[in-house]
Amino acid sequence: MHPFLPLAAQLKDGSQATLRMVRPADAEALCELTRLVVEAGEGMARTVSEVPQTAEETAVGVRRWMRERRGLFIVAERDARIVAQADIRVPPLTRLAHVGHFTVSVHPASQGLGLGRAMTQAALQWAKESGLEQVNLTVFAANQRARKLYASLGFVEQGLRRKYIRYREGEYDDDVLMAWEADTSICPPEVTPH
Ligand SMILES: CC(C)(COP(=O)(O)OP(=O)(O)OC[C@H]1O[C@@H](n2cnc3c(N)ncnc32)[C@H](O)[C@@H]1OP(=O)(O)O)[C@@H](O)C(=O)NCCC(=O)NCCS
Repeated sequence: MHPFLPLAAQLKDGSQATLRMVRPADAEALCELTRLVVEAGEGMARTVSEVPQTAEETAVGVRRWMRERRGLFIVAERDARIVAQADIRVPPLTRLAHVGHFTVSVHPASQGLGLGRAMTQAALQWAKESGLEQVNLTVFAANQRARKLYASLGFVEQGLRRKYIRYREGEYDDDVLMAWEADTSICPPEVTPH
């Protein structure tokens, strides 16, 4: 159920982006987006050699997602280019069917404009409308920007895995678990259809 998609998001530089469901034709742009975000080196567990290397590999993932439809997979388009992606994955397990796991990434050149906020807000709205009770995520402790964003939308820190990320020998970061709960967290403002 995605009654509010596509939707227009007003960005801080006066431009607009359109948030919509992913399509197989987005694969090439998504492959490039993931590579750029990972290359920028902030906030991601995977390294450049550990993400899909080709549009075809990415398309396989998109098609699998479209077949299974266990969650939400949205992209943001700005000036006809894909500049952000976000997903909520719901595990195929009866006892975890009330929980979704959230990830989001924004093209380095489009960060700081409000896209991360718009994508997260849209994902939480989908979660509410789909009856999910909880959305969780993990975020590197040093990723203050993301932590601040999530906290402002109602995610609460629930735990910390010490030294979970190892950049190189002797250099670590902690991993923070955050969760948004439909019945107790603040609800972000509703997004409106295009
Ligand atoms: C984290 C990320 C998704 C945020 O998206 P974004 O579009 O850059 O962020 P937004 O412009 O929506 O800003 C959201 C909030 O982040 C904070 N923020 C934004 N830019 C910031 C900056 N340069 N420094 C500190 N905080 C900042 C602000 O609290 C902002 O809230 P505001 O709207 O009240 O100003 C994005 O930067 C990104 O993709 N980073 C790399 C990948 C990543 O870290 N993903 C998350 C993994 S858990």
